[in-house]
This record gives sequence, C-alpha cells and structure tokens, in this order.
Amino acid sequence: MHKIRIRTLLLLSGLSLLTVKLMMNPVIEAMHKRRSVRSYEPKPIPRDVINTIIEAGNQAPSTMGMVKGVLRFQPWRFVVVEDPEFKQKLLQTALPIWKKMTESMKETDPEIYEKAMKLYEAMPEPKDMIYHGAPVILFIIGPISNAVSCALACENIMLAACALGLGSCYTGFGAMVKGHADIVQALELTDGERIYGPILLGYPKDAPEKRWMDQHKSYVKPTIKWI
Ligand SMILES: Cc1cc2nc3c(=O)[nH]c(=O)nc-3n(C[C@H](O)[C@H](O)[C@H](O)COP(=O)(O)O)c2cc1C
Repeated sequence: MHKIRIRTLLLLSGLSLLTVKLMMNPVIEAMHKRRSVRSYEPKPIPRDVINTIIEAGNQAPSTMGMVKGVLRFQPWRFVVVEDPEFKQKLLQTALPIWKKMTESMKETDPEIYEKAMKLYEAMPEPKDMIYHGAPVILFIIGPISNAVSCALACENIMLAACALGLGSCYTGFGAMVKGHADIVQALELTDGERIYGPILLGYPKDAPEKRWMDQHKSYVKPTIKWI
C-alpha cells in the first residue's frame, strides 16, 4: 500500500519510468523514507533488531584510527541505553543545557526561541525535549579525530533502523552529558573521544508515510552541476 502510493506519487511528479523503478530499490527507498522521529511507542526493541542495526553501523567506511593505542578500522564503539534511571540521569544533565542555549536565542533568534518554548510547554511531563522518551538511546563513541567515519556509521544506523520499520533521530543535544561524572564513567568516555549522536531508536508513533509527505512539502531539490 505504502509502496504503491509512493510509486504513484513519483509517476505523477513527472519522473521517467526508469527513475521510478530505480527509486523503488529498498536501500534508496529507505534513504527517502528516513525522517527524524521525535515521538515513540513505549514498546521495547528486541535485542536481535538492535544488534542488526549496530552491525549495519559497523559496516560503514572508515579511515584508520587509533583507539587506546590500537590501530582500528572500526574506530567507533556503541553503548545501548535502555535503563529508565540512566535515561533520567541523561535528561537531567542535558535538559538544563538545552534550556540555557534556547534562552540565549531569545535575543538573537526570537522566532526559533518562540517555537522551541511552545513545543516545550505543550510537552507532557516529564518534558523530554532531548530524548523524546525513546526506548533506546544509542551512543556512538569514537575518537574526536574520526568524526567523518563515525558520522557515516551513524547514517548507516539510521538507515538500517528505517529499513526495519523503526524511527530514529540524531540528537546532538543528547551528547551534552559530559558534565556528569557518573555518565562519563558509565559511557567509559576518555579524553580523546567524543559522542556521535546519540541516536534515538524506537517504533514511531505516527505513520511513516505521513512524515514522508510532510517533509516533502519543504523538500529542496539537490543542486547539481554536470561537467
Ligand atoms: C549533527 C546533527 C545534530 C542534530 N541534533 C538534533 C537535536 O539535538 N535534536 C533534534 O530533535 N534533532 C536533531 N537533529 C536532527 C535534525 O533536526 C534533522 O535531521 C533535520 O531537521 C532534517 O530532518 P529529517 O532528519 O527528518 O530529514 C540533528 C541532526 C544532525 C545531523
């Protein structure tokens, strides 16, 4: 049903039959379908699903990197957070930083400030503006010097999640937890490392098709130069 509707939409948008056929490729389809999800069902994700997603992240291309003096082709490591108490600790650490940063936009960007505050006020308790009650918060941790490689692993993870019917969201604010010693200890963060993501994972509350449509309204076509 979902596939048929997308195909019909693509055909109606004037694309050639070959382009439509190419876009039905499952990998390309996942790339188009993936959107940031900020509302999740309180349903646990089976371990097999989480491991499959992490394995997909582990397949990303990477430069060589040194981790604890060892040369590694996969410079990243993963921490899966499911524990409600630990999630609460993360939120209590990151939320004040979010509030401070949002507050600082009051003068510089009042429109964004207003929007953020409206979202925050409309949110039911506990006001989880950061992790959005996701059942899994996946920390991708790697050397500061391997940012590109780690970002590629993050994208693999989000695409794999989408392909398996899960929602995801890269949450830069969620990484602002280095100020809490217990969290740093639990994540085993060292000086040369940083958090990529974290990536929220969970079964989305709204229909993926609706999000795809919503996003399309503001879609900007790629700028391409052919030489
Ligand atoms: C580096 C980075 C940091 C981000 N940080 C946040 C964040 O803190 N909170 C959030 O809700 N979304 C965050 N996002 C998600 C973006 O808002 C989102 O990807 C963008 O609006 C495009 O929407 P889409 O992912 O649905 O295509 C982040 C994305 C990236 C790449």
